Amino acid sequence: MRPIRHDSSIVEFQRKRGGDCAAFFVPFLTSGMILLDAGCGPGTITAALAGLVAKAVGVDIEPNAIAAADRLAAAESLTNLSFVEADMTALPFEDEAFDAVFFHAVLYHQSQAVLTRALAEARRVLKPGGLIATRDADVGGNVLHPDIDGVRLALDLWQRWYEHDDPDALRFGRRQSSILRAHGFTPVWTGASYVNHSADATSRSEAVADARRSLLGFGPQLLRKGLATDDEIQTALAGWDAWGRDPDAVYFRCRCECVARKD
Ligand SMILES: C[S@@+](CC[C@H](N)C(=O)[O-])C[C@H]1O[C@@H](n2cnc3c(N)ncnc32)[C@H](O)[C@@H]1O
Repeated sequence: MRPIRHDSSIVEFQRKRGGDCAAFFVPFLTSGMILLDAGCGPGTITAALAGLVAKAVGVDIEPNAIAAADRLAAAESLTNLSFVEADMTALPFEDEAFDAVFFHAVLYHQSQAVLTRALAEARRVLKPGGLIATRDADVGGNVLHPDIDGVRLALDLWQRWYEHDDPDALRFGRRQSSILRAHGFTPVWTGASYVNHSADATSRSEAVADARRSLLGFGPQLLRKGLATDDEIQTALAGWDAWGRDPDAVYFRCRCECVARKD
């Protein structure tokens, strides 16, 4: 599995995500359900979902993420919400303990072996008829404008990094339905929506900061593996800076969504 860093800036970035990330799942939820948010990060989405179900539990392997989630639950005085530091491939719950399991921006990070174990665990802890919902990236669906050489190079570097591990990693989103079916679930709904990184100057500068953080994060590993040069990384960073200075620049990131049932 690729290392996932959890410094405070990443937790802060994820904290901005809210219930809109799970909007597609809301029509399937009812007030009596017990829900698991697997790979919950700082718990923002879990907290939004807790308002719709009887009980919500978030698990994450990263202690910093769980600490942030616990602070959120305490600040919002939510009594039907709890967080547990745990590995989604070895969940500390009884069989058939949950009505719903949610994965947001978690599964596309994973190796095939971890994906298979995580989905097997989701199946185990779901009640018969329970629902799994997944929402993940698909780079092929992104809308990015204007076409700047450095930004195109940045995306190419990103692709070199991901395809180095798994040629299908960047098209994970569109494959969710077939992946869930292959792991024993019956898909009942699929869809997609966009994350808007260009609503205004603030969201554009956040997008640039995120792109810089990501490039600087995996850049040294690309260099070590001989997959990029330092000049390329500098050009890519400059490309994102140029994109951020264009008041008409847009960046809409595609997120594919799937709901499936354990029969
Ligand atoms: C991109 S973040 C998404 C967080 C949250 N779902 C959200 O969308 O805001 C991916 C999360 O998955 C967690 N994660 C990765 N591998 C995990 C594992 N094996 N078990 C539990 N959590 C894991 C990471 O620690 C991280 O918080």
